[in-house]
Amino acid sequence: MTQDEMKKAAGWAALKYVEKGSIVGVGTGSTVNHFIDALGTVKEDIKGAVSSSEVSTEKLKQLGIEVFDCNQVSSLDIYVDGADEINAAREMIKGGGAALTREKIVAAISDKFVCIVDGTKAVDVLGSFPLPVEVIPMARSYVGREMVKLGGDPVYREGVTTDNGNIIIDVHGLSITHPKELEDKINAIAGVVTVGLFAHRGADVVITGTENGAQIED
Ligand code: 5RP
Repeated sequence: MTQDEMKKAAGWAALKYVEKGSIVGVGTGSTVNHFIDALGTVKEDIKGAVSSSEVSTEKLKQLGIEVFDCNQVSSLDIYVDGADEINAAREMIKGGGAALTREKIVAAISDKFVCIVDGTKAVDVLGSFPLPVEVIPMARSYVGREMVKLGGDPVYREGVTTDNGNIIIDVHGLSITHPKELEDKINAIAGVVTVGLFAHRGADVVITGTENGAQIED
């Protein structure tokens, strides 16, 4: 099986958590794209979706799935999204696709976070994948210097503007042994919009695409 086939297995397996008549929280990325394809097959049974990015919104609409503004709903049963890394405590690094802030918002209003990944995303310690931080443009240098103080090596993600009009700094070289503490520390820095550490709001269910199909940890 290729990595994409494993992503597909995870994405389609998440359909099992979609309730009839519900509005579904939808993340962003290549694994989620498979989930959106799966969601298209049951579009008559759901009310619609709340999306975490313009890219996912476009794909949902193309398949005829209604997309609700986040402010129109008070809560969601489930949020389905991928991750760049996930540890045994179901804490994640996200934001490889630069959608971390909206992802965190949709995850926050959802009762259950269903994380869909291929087997390469599981790690013992978070941090090999550079940690994305969404930053207000004028704070770029300041936030970079603060990342150095935390032991990281900040790299400006060239040519990327988030859906919120901000920039992304990818922080290399971190070994994140206390994800919740680091999430709090980085979020407290002036100019940081969101750090791509999902430790306080981790995943509730993990669906991993493997050579043998999707494995579910509920
Ligand atoms: C986007 C994300 C994605 O969930 C993460 O990058 C995983 O992407 P993929 O499913 O393409 O491997 O956080 O901001």
